[in-house]
Amino acid sequence: MKVLLLGSGGREHALAWRISQSPHLDRLWVAEGNAGTARLATNLPVDPGDTLSVVETARSLGIDLVVVGPELPLANGIVDRLSEAGIRAFGPTQAAARIESSKGFARAIMQEAGVPGPSFSVFRDEQQALEYLSSHPGPTVVKADGLAAGKGVLLCQTAEEAAAAVRRCMTEGAFGAAGKTVVIEEFLTGQEISVFAFTDGETISPLVAACDYKQVGDGDVGPNTGGMGSFTPPEFWNEGLAEEVKHTVIAPVLRLLAGRGTPYRGVLYAGLMLTEEGIQTLEFNCRFGDPEAQVILPLLESDPLEVMLACAQGTLDQVPVCWRSRAHVGVVMTSGGYPGKYQTGYRITGLETEIPSSLVFHAGTRLTGEGPEDPVVTSGGRVLTVVGWGDDLADARFNAYRRLEMIHFDGCYYRRDIGEIPSTVEDGAWLPNPVPQSL
Ligand code: AMP
Ligand code: GLY
Repeated sequence: MKVLLLGSGGREHALAWRISQSPHLDRLWVAEGNAGTARLATNLPVDPGDTLSVVETARSLGIDLVVVGPELPLANGIVDRLSEAGIRAFGPTQAAARIESSKGFARAIMQEAGVPGPSFSVFRDEQQALEYLSSHPGPTVVKADGLAAGKGVLLCQTAEEAAAAVRRCMTEGAFGAAGKTVVIEEFLTGQEISVFAFTDGETISPLVAACDYKQVGDGDVGPNTGGMGSFTPPEFWNEGLAEEVKHTVIAPVLRLLAGRGTPYRGVLYAGLMLTEEGIQTLEFNCRFGDPEAQVILPLLESDPLEVMLACAQGTLDQVPVCWRSRAHVGVVMTSGGYPGKYQTGYRITGLETEIPSSLVFHAGTRLTGEGPEDPVVTSGGRVLTVVGWGDDLADARFNAYRRLEMIHFDGCYYRRDIGEIPSTVEDGAWLPNPVPQSL
């Protein structure tokens, strides 16, 4: 198979790495890729957000399958346009991708499907949003309806903070058109978890789960980022919980979308909060998580191209999806200053030093020359995800940090607590809330 992969982050390097292991692969191209994907594939200077160029490129290369990494091309309708051109793609159509590209749509779908989630209201009018807040004094979450590169969710402790957040979205236009509609939600507390399933719209693969770290500093302090690390499996993840998530969250939504004539195909990512009241759904995403993909894709035992093709063709019932169970920890190395201002162009050293039970996935990196073996420099905020694995999380964590310590670039920063299990874990006391009864 000739495959074109869209995207250039750590998630896409992990996808390229896993796809390269498939015996079905003839040749792999990545648009636009990074220095890591350049070693496995041919990088192309094609913007994944430019739908026409992607379709033209796929057509001229005779691509058999386009694999879409990030949400933006999906929200732009890349899968629809490719399908019109007779090219198969892994990922949902524009209509199904609304589950991520409109938070109001996602909440409406969840409500109709009976999926548990926080109470919420959707506003297109600022005055109405502010009036609502005056009668809801407690903590709330204000969300820009559309895609905002992960920045459109504002956690507010008081109604004043929430009113300021509404104004930021609706008057100040902080998130552009994405913030013209806002969703205001009840503020939930509990244990967060990211759950993933492959689906062709009907068949659902076994679920796999990971946790990510959003805040920049150790102990979850400081501003939010695109993700500072991840690990799998979460200590509380088990078959019972997986079944519950499948039956109460994933299956009802997929059934509803299929019934509306907009079946969801691809990988579905459910962001969940385990609360005292049980499972609550925070969001759906129409793609793999980043940096969750970097710890999840190494677990995929089945052939990735067979699975993705089956999702695209509606034949997932004929392709078993198997996940291996092995602890993985992924630590993100960032440019100094991220998620604020940072400098790029620094030489990265130590990438060649191999350490057993570890892997390095690139994100914001670029080659300084034409050849894949040329020196690598930093080119973004999140630069690398260093992944380690082992028999348990402590082992995996040890291997990730051991590899990470071999790598250097000026100003590099990383969290030191990724995959760390708080010492009180045995009695469950570290959970913000008691483990829900239903689990
Ligand atoms: P979302 O993009 O909707 O997942 O929101 C991003 C992050 O904001 C989530 O991963 C949570 O950490 C947090 N969040 C979202 N919705 C809520 C909520 N209703 N209550 C508490 N935290 C939330
Ligand atoms: N790890 C969060 C995300 O990919 O949206």
